Order: sequence, then C-alpha cells, then structure tokens
Amino acid sequence: MVSANNLDSWRDLPAAQQPDWPDRAELDKVVAELRGLPPLVFAGECDDLKARLAAVARGEAFVLQGGDCAETFSGATADNVRNKLKTLLQMAIVLTYAAKVPVVKIGRLAGQFAKPRSKNTEIRDGVELPAYRGDMVNGFEFTAEARTPDPDRLLRAYHSSAVTLNLARAFAKGGYADLRQVHAWNQDFVAASPAGQRYEQLAREIDQALAFMRACGPEPAEFHTVDFYSSHEALILDYDRALTRIDSRTGLPYDVSAHMVWIGERTRQLDGAHVEFFSKIQNPIGVKLGPTTTPEEALTLVEKLNPDNEPGRLTFISRMGAGKVREALPTLVEKVTAGGASVAWICDPMHGNTFEAPSGHKTRHLDDVLDEVAGFFEVHRALGTHPGGIHIEFTGDDVTECVGGGHPIVEEDLALRYETACDPRLNRGQSLDLAFRVAELYRSQH
Ligand code: PEP
Ligand code: CO
Repeated sequence: MVSANNLDSWRDLPAAQQPDWPDRAELDKVVAELRGLPPLVFAGECDDLKARLAAVARGEAFVLQGGDCAETFSGATADNVRNKLKTLLQMAIVLTYAAKVPVVKIGRLAGQFAKPRSKNTEIRDGVELPAYRGDMVNGFEFTAEARTPDPDRLLRAYHSSAVTLNLARAFAKGGYADLRQVHAWNQDFVAASPAGQRYEQLAREIDQALAFMRACGPEPAEFHTVDFYSSHEALILDYDRALTRIDSRTGLPYDVSAHMVWIGERTRQLDGAHVEFFSKIQNPIGVKLGPTTTPEEALTLVEKLNPDNEPGRLTFISRMGAGKVREALPTLVEKVTAGGASVAWICDPMHGNTFEAPSGHKTRHLDDVLDEVAGFFEVHRALGTHPGGIHIEFTGDDVTECVGGGHPIVEEDLALRYETACDPRLNRGQSLDLAFRVAELYRSQH
C-alpha cells in the first residue's frame, strides 16, 4: 500500500530516461550521502516563487525563465554565471520598462545538469556508445569511459549547483543587480551590436526616471536588489528524491535542489514515475507540453499535479514549434481554462524549432523563435487568456549556435563558436532582440 505522503511511490512506476547505472551499490552510497547534505534552497523561498507565479496565473506578472540547455561542471565559472545573469537582468529590464509588467526571474541554472535523449546511443564512425545525458550522469567526451554513467557525478552536480547558486544570490542581492547598474551591464556590449545600442537608449530613459524618483524621495529597496529563482528539469529521480526534505514549518515535502522544477516533454507520461514524484512535492512545478498533447492529457495533469487548484503551483510550458503553435495550443488553453484550473501559461519557443544545418550543427532560427512567441501571444489574445512568460535557452556569451538576429549569424558562422553541450542557445544579442520583441507584443496586447 502506498500512503498519500509516500515519497517513494514513483519507484513502482515506469521511469523514462533514467541512466543505466553500472553499479547500483555505488549509486546507493551516493544517494545516502546526498540525503545528508544541506538544502540548496529553502521551502519558504519556493512558496515565495509560488506566490509570484500565482500573480502570473492571474494575469498580473510575466515569467522570464532561461539559461543553458545543459549546464556543465566546467562551465560553473564566475564569468559564465555573471554573463548569464547580466543578460537575464538586461532582458528583464527591457520587459519591465517597455512592457510595464513585473517580471519573475527564474534561471535554468544551478541544477540543469541532466538531459533526456531521443536515442539511447550515439554512433560515430561506426563506434556506438551511450548517449551523453548531461554532466550529472556521464561525460560529453566520446569515449567508453566518459560515457559510462557514474553516480559520483550526482554529488558533483550538487556541489556545482551550490557554487552557482551562491554566486547568483550574491549578484542578485549584493549590489550588482542595482538599477543604477543598467549601463554597466551593457558596457562591453553597446558598441558591438544593434541590440546593445537599442538597450542603451532604454537605459538612458531609465536613468531619467530614476533621477526623477530620487528627487521625489527615498528609492524603494526593489531598486537595489532582485529576487532570482533557480529551476531545472527534475529528470534523474534518484537525485531529486535525495534532495527532497520535510519542511519543518509545514511538515510537507519540498524538493530543495531548486525553487522550481519541471517535467520534460519526454517524461510527462500520466502513469509514469515523474508525474507521481512531482505530485508529492510542494514546489511550484512546470510541465512541458509539445504539439501532440491532447486536452485530456492536460486536464489529467492538472488533476494529478494540482488537485486543490492551488494558484502558482502549476505552470504549463508549451513548446509547439512556430508552424504548429497556432493550431495546437488553442484547444489546450481553452479546455484547461474552461475546467476552471488556475495555471500559468508560458512559451518555450526553442524546443519545437530545432533543425540541422548543412554543416551538421543542431540549430534554431531566431525568426522561428520570434514567430512561435508571436503565435503564443495571438492564441492568448483570441481566448482572452494571459500570455504568462517565456522559457528560453540562452547564454551571456557571443556564441554562434542559433542563426538570425539583428546582428545576424548565418549558417556558415555556426562553427565559429559553437559551444553548447546540448541544444543551441541564443547569444546575448539574440536574447535582447527577443526581449524587445516580446515587450512589443506584450504592450500591444495590454
Ligand atoms: C529542454 O528543456 O532542454 C528539453 C529537453 O525540453 P523538452 O522536454 O521540451 O523537449
Ligand atoms: Co534543450
């Protein structure tokens, strides 16, 4: 018999996309160690984020969720983390100032170390090895040794998350995110790109507004710090289970490895282990919905994951593709809304728009990304529902992984700086282009 609070009930169900750990005893040892380590986030912070997402579901705020497709251990450097946060802050400023909407800032950061794969193995020059499943599981290098799942990597993922989150918290609260820094975030960028120049114009307007506010009286604390939350796809259930703890205030379980966790498109089976595990934790959660999702599936997810219809608990992240969003999304939104469910709808315009360039690089066109976002806004406008945010893969560096943009990258450029460990990310200029476009769409609809 499984009790309502049994945090291990998922173990009896099929769990998709789990590594084939060669040594179960070694995994058990690591899991026992993880269970003794301190939480990375506090339950109260998860509740704060839930309250903010409830405002999104009510139509009063907008989510900006983003970061790498796959974080790597070697990528957890000060420069990398700072550049990602800087870009996220710039995007958030564009949205807050140009769209006049409160922005909930959530990183795909400090825990995004595991990847679902469409194939279990990868073949190169006739050699077949296990697919790379993220630094939390195995190594990217194409050797049998690197590709063998290693449970010690779960511990490294925990520690890498801890240092990343520590730095993110310092940036968010220690002065770097102060609005007086709006120009500083752009300094190294302004001359280099049209998006940087457009941003600079907006930053000048913010300066004027701040000067006016200062003349009026003391500035609110919100001008000097930001609230920043962490999130990842909770794919490897042994990891997220080991970091699930009973909150001393409420006696309820929270996955304290991140503020928000989501279920991916490949692991959202209604009778699968992921949905079962997520139904037991109190965090705000997301579920990715691809173009094959039926309204019945969406309604069952609501029922299983948010039976009390708690506002802010459930976010649906649609990832339909630019060519499908206008047909596939309306019925889902309509049926879920008609059922009275309180959910936040956000748009992932990345995962439905991936294609292979002639050079063999996996890429995305910024035009498709912008078109899916536009379609997402059109659907919500037609239904009178709230386009609640975007979920993107980006980096603060000037990589060449996605094509297009105001300072365009063409397919021939892809090899120049293609650094992702998994899916192609928007670079900084493309991210700002997107933020300006989203701000325009939002403004025209409100
Ligand atoms: C991802 O977010 O990197 C991902 C794999 O997305 P999805 O589950 O939507 O395919
Ligand atoms: Co991805």
